[in-house]
Amino acid sequence: MSFHSMWAELLPVGRSSASGGYRRFAWTGADADCRAWFEQQARSRGLAYETDRNGNQWAWLGDPARGDAVVTGSHLDSVPDGGAFDGPLGVVSAFAALDELRHRGARFTRPLGIVNFGDEEGARFGLACVGSRLTAGLLTVEQAHRLTDAQGITLPQAMEAAGHDPGAIGPDPERLDRIGAFVELHVEQGRALDLSGDPVGVASAIWPHGRWRFDFRGEANHAGTTRLADRRDPMLSYAETVLAARREAELAGAVATFGKIAVEPNGVNAIPSLVRGWLDSRAADQESLDAVVDGVRSAAREYADAHGVELVVERESFTSVVEFDRVLRDELARILGTGTDLTVPVLGTGAGHDAGILSARVPTAMLFVRNPTGVSHSPAEFAAEDDCVAGVRALADALEGLACT
Ligand code: GLV
Ligand code: MN
Ligand code: MN
Repeated sequence: MSFHSMWAELLPVGRSSASGGYRRFAWTGADADCRAWFEQQARSRGLAYETDRNGNQWAWLGDPARGDAVVTGSHLDSVPDGGAFDGPLGVVSAFAALDELRHRGARFTRPLGIVNFGDEEGARFGLACVGSRLTAGLLTVEQAHRLTDAQGITLPQAMEAAGHDPGAIGPDPERLDRIGAFVELHVEQGRALDLSGDPVGVASAIWPHGRWRFDFRGEANHAGTTRLADRRDPMLSYAETVLAARREAELAGAVATFGKIAVEPNGVNAIPSLVRGWLDSRAADQESLDAVVDGVRSAAREYADAHGVELVVERESFTSVVEFDRVLRDELARILGTGTDLTVPVLGTGAGHDAGILSARVPTAMLFVRNPTGVSHSPAEFAAEDDCVAGVRALADALEGLACT
C-alpha cells in the first residue's frame, strides 16, 4: 500500500467535523480505530504483531530476540483538535519505508521493528509519553495508577474499558534490550527546514520541558451582589500569572504557555472558587527553564496573596534536556548526505517525543520533515506530499544503512 493510500485511509479517523482537527485520545474509540489500523498494516505485511504490557504496538520483521533491532515509528494519538501529521507521519512513513526497502530488494542483517507508542500527547491524562515512560521505567506503576482524566476516569479504568489489562503495566527492560537503534520520523514543529530550504533534517536535541499545575483557590460568591473590595477572586491572580509567564519567558529567551484551564464552579454569574491553570514551559537549557518557572511561581504567589487567594503549585511532568546519540546522528547525516552530496540540516526542537524518553535507554535519533508554516498542534498543521515522500525515502535510506547489507 502506498504512502498516499495509507495516509488517505487514516485521515478520517478521529477527525472532528466541527473543527477539522483530530481528537484521538488515549484508550478512546478513535484511539482503538487507529490501533486497529496499525495492527492491520502489520499483519498485511506479514510482520509479527504484538501489543506490549503498556499498550504500545509493535510489528517485527526478523527475530527481535537477537537484541540489535533497528526500530522506527512514532504515535497515533493527538492533542485536542490536533493536526494530521504529528505522530501519524512517523508511523505511516515507517510502513512506507519498509515497503520501499522491500521494493529495492534490500537484505536485512538486523531485525526491523515498527512501533506505535501509546498516549504520547498526554491529552487525556495530563502526562505526555505515558507508554514510553512506563516501558523505560521513567513512570512508576503507582504514578500511572493515579492519572485521572477530566471525567474522573483513571488510567487503569480507561485501559480496562479498552480491553487492555492494567495489571500488566510496568517497566519493560527486556523489550528495550531488543533495540539497537530507534529512529523516529516526525513532522517539524517549527520553520527551520522551510527557512533552510531542505525537505528533511536530523534532530540534535530536545529542550528540557515540563508541565506545572497552578491551583488558585478563592471564594465563590454572587457576581452581581459582591462588592469588588469583598471578593477573593482567583481569576485575577491567575490572569496576572499568565502575563508574568509571558514576561519571564521573554526575559529568559524561553517559551511559557498556559493553554489549559479549569474553572469551578464555571458559572457566568459566579465568582470562581477555583482556577486551575497548567503551565507548559520549555527552554534551551535547564538554567533558563528554572528561571522561568521560579519567576512565574513567585509572581503567582505574590498575586495570590494580594487577592486573599490560596496557591498550590505542582510539577506534573518533566523531561530533562535530551542530546540525541552523537554516533547515530552523525551516521544518519552521513547516510542521508551520501549520493546527493548534500549536507543534512541538524536542528534542535522544543517539542517532546517518545524518542526523547527512549534516549535514556537506547541510542536514538530523529528525522524531521519540512512544515512550511511551522504550525503544529492545530488543524492547520501541514506537510506537502512531496516532502512526506522525501521523508519516506530518507527513512528508508537510514534504515537500509543501519539494518541492511
Ligand atoms: C508533544 O508534542 C509536546 O511537545 O508537548
Ligand atoms: Mn505533539
Ligand atoms: Mn508527536
